[in-house]
Amino acid sequence: MKANDIRKLFKSYFKKYNHQEIASSSLIPENDPTLLFANAGMNQFKDYFTGNATPDNKRAVTIQKCVRAGGKHNDLENVGHTARHHTFFEMLGNFSFGDYFKKDAIKFSWEFLTNELKIPKDKLFITVHNTDDEAEQIWLKIGIDPKHIFRKGDKDNFWEMGQYGPCGPCSEIFYDHGEQYKTTNLIINPGQDILVDESRYVEIWNLVFMQYEKTPEGKFNLPSPSIDTGAGLERLAAVVQGKYWNYDIDIFQTIISQIEQLTNSKYSNLEQADSIRVIADHIRSATMLITDGVLPSNEGRGYVLRRIIRRAIRHLKLLNINTPTLFKLVPTVLETLNSEYPQNGLNQQLAEKFIKLEETKFLETLGQGLKFLKDVIKSEKLSKNNTILSGQSAFKLYDTYGFPIDLTEIILNESNYSIDLDGFKTSMQHQKEKSKQGRKETIAIDNNLFFKLHEQFGNTKYIENDKLESEATLLAIDTSEESSVLIFDQTVFYGESGGQNGDNGEIYDGDQVVATIIDTLKPVEQLHAHITNNNHKLSINKKYKLKVHREKRNLTARNHSATHLLQSALIATLGKHIKQSGSNVAPNRLRFDFTHPAALTKNELIQVEQLVNEYIGSSTQVNCTIMSKEEAIKNGALAIFGEKYGNEVRVVKMNNLSTELCGGSHVCNTSEIGVFHIISESSLSTGIRRIEAVTSTSAANFLNQRSRVLSALELNLQEKENEIITKVSKLVLENKNLKKEIKLTYEKSQRENNKSLFQTPEILNNQCTLQTIELPSGTNLKNISDDYLDMYPSGILVAYTKENDKIKVIIRSPNINNPISCGKILKELSKTLNCRGGGKDNMAQGSVDSNDLESFLIQTIKIIKQNTK
Ligand code: SER
Repeated sequence: MKANDIRKLFKSYFKKYNHQEIASSSLIPENDPTLLFANAGMNQFKDYFTGNATPDNKRAVTIQKCVRAGGKHNDLENVGHTARHHTFFEMLGNFSFGDYFKKDAIKFSWEFLTNELKIPKDKLFITVHNTDDEAEQIWLKIGIDPKHIFRKGDKDNFWEMGQYGPCGPCSEIFYDHGEQYKTTNLIINPGQDILVDESRYVEIWNLVFMQYEKTPEGKFNLPSPSIDTGAGLERLAAVVQGKYWNYDIDIFQTIISQIEQLTNSKYSNLEQADSIRVIADHIRSATMLITDGVLPSNEGRGYVLRRIIRRAIRHLKLLNINTPTLFKLVPTVLETLNSEYPQNGLNQQLAEKFIKLEETKFLETLGQGLKFLKDVIKSEKLSKNNTILSGQSAFKLYDTYGFPIDLTEIILNESNYSIDLDGFKTSMQHQKEKSKQGRKETIAIDNNLFFKLHEQFGNTKYIENDKLESEATLLAIDTSEESSVLIFDQTVFYGESGGQNGDNGEIYDGDQVVATIIDTLKPVEQLHAHITNNNHKLSINKKYKLKVHREKRNLTARNHSATHLLQSALIATLGKHIKQSGSNVAPNRLRFDFTHPAALTKNELIQVEQLVNEYIGSSTQVNCTIMSKEEAIKNGALAIFGEKYGNEVRVVKMNNLSTELCGGSHVCNTSEIGVFHIISESSLSTGIRRIEAVTSTSAANFLNQRSRVLSALELNLQEKENEIITKVSKLVLENKNLKKEIKLTYEKSQRENNKSLFQTPEILNNQCTLQTIELPSGTNLKNISDDYLDMYPSGILVAYTKENDKIKVIIRSPNINNPISCGKILKELSKTLNCRGGGKDNMAQGSVDSNDLESFLIQTIKIIKQNTK
């Protein structure tokens, strides 16, 4: 049975028992800062278990994409060396939110494994929590051999998703791969827990009996006992396909064959197998992470991804591959996963582009880094007795050559060396402190109030009408110091979401304005929270008229539709790797963030702007339709990363120009947007660019303002518009030349002035002249000594200036046929006088204490005269 058939069978089996099929959530957990990546099927249901949200159906079945690299559940280190650890894997799960409990959960799993997958009963072993008599009894009743049940403690049979969250005791099902796989040298006595032999017995399903929630305040009972189960698809497929290694199942073999082909290696070659496995595993997680919106970077999720990709690149190098190759595996990976996660498939080019970029970058330094490592192993004399590499060298590898610390560790471990991790951390800390300065702290928003309001009043009905007016009953007012939150049974006010700002407007009682809405939020599901200042005259349970600020809403709609057109124009100009990664749509401007590895050129920006204006000019109808998510994706609708869509979605279609999943406000026809103008393009973070633009009235105002500036220029310069640039460039050049000329003239006249300072110098012999002179403070002594030599080519100058309480001095003499050494004179005098400085034969500069100036001058002149007799 193929892995894909197991997926289908699992879903159909549980659907038969009234479980609702729910699509996998993104690998980036939504609204859950406690979690790095989705690591279990239950993550997306956390609020259902805790009672913070209510599901449509109390039973669910999912196939969840999971990444366990970093965080509480981390399998990164084991990948490649073991038969069944992965950074990316798929988890099959059935869930009960306060519906069935232990008995049915156990029955379902047993029936699915033994009847549907036809796994022999005697190959299955069970563990239960050592306090859980009930679970043990249910298993015994189902007919499990008592010798196949083991009780275990919290470490093995109590499941927690992370530091906090829903948790509970669990019961695990193991498969016996057979005698031939037992760990040699492991002696297991009769009756003893045989499951210590992880190489022979593999856990294939975990049934968690969710009963508690762990919070920073303590452990509490859940509102009702629930079920969370998880079975790794790759392990089940290995059992069903009669394989010991997960890497031997169909979905891995497809990838492995391509790796063999691309690298000219053989999986059957034991020396190459580990590398091939690491590459096969890592390309799956890299592809799925990028197509879910994580981009390689130096922090957080992006850094875990970077580490995964760089490890794969290093293993490719071990297979003698030194050019970008990993990215070529992306289509194959998606081929094996696309049917279950079509949204990832849509982002294939994004993954190819960013993996290739990462390969190109790391390959530039990988070779040098490995050489550096080899050299420091030598210079630090690492050997059997001295096995620890200094933290500083590890940091240099990290900082200069881009080697993640775990990569360096792995390479060193291969020779039984390790790293001084404390030393590494100190170097790292040092750098972090430097970069911390100037970074903004994020503010945590307390959503408790909104959760409570949502619990009490549920979703607000949103009415999309053209009049932007409706009647509504006020259900709640929550007043804080600065503002009040109003909840109505229904509303015409758009709540901030999907990048679009919330509406403003007024609340009327008859003809009387009784409250002004300054913003509308949508903090929990479809709850519309209307924000007003505290000067309102409102009463609960009374009917009011709600009226949205029409002009602002229309301007916002124009900007929102323009954002969709901008995305299409970017894709048409730059390629399919363009994905929206954020946006902000306001009445006066729009902001659009997207994935692209480099700044846009001037021509690209012009092209994008022109295309959007062409789309606007094509007067295309805009249609908003509700359809199933599957249908929308089939229609090629673009979705936003990390955005959670329900089963029913709204598709905004502008004929063949753009199709996007979007709940926002739009124009009816693109011509309403009028005009589109880009005002800036910048970098937001690694691989993410930001465009800011204006449309309609704002664009007109912006452009008119510029046009007025241009008219003023035309008038001032007496040139026509198209000549202005040439004229200004000419003026700038002229100005530059004039400045240069003025400077030269000034310097020349300065020199003349300087020369007048040198009154008739003393003639020392037939050749030399000597001038001793005090100059005004601030004079450049070196320049003035040049001038002196211009006038008297065989002259000697002793000059000084008073700068505050210091005296600066220079002794200067000709370069050729020089009778003295200025440097030596200064040095000699500094032995007896309070003076400092030095120089060469032809020039010495320094300073003299004012008390010693007179002696300094007398002695200098004396030495000079002695030498020029
Ligand atoms: N949450 C449990 C696990 O991940 C069962 O799904 O093992």
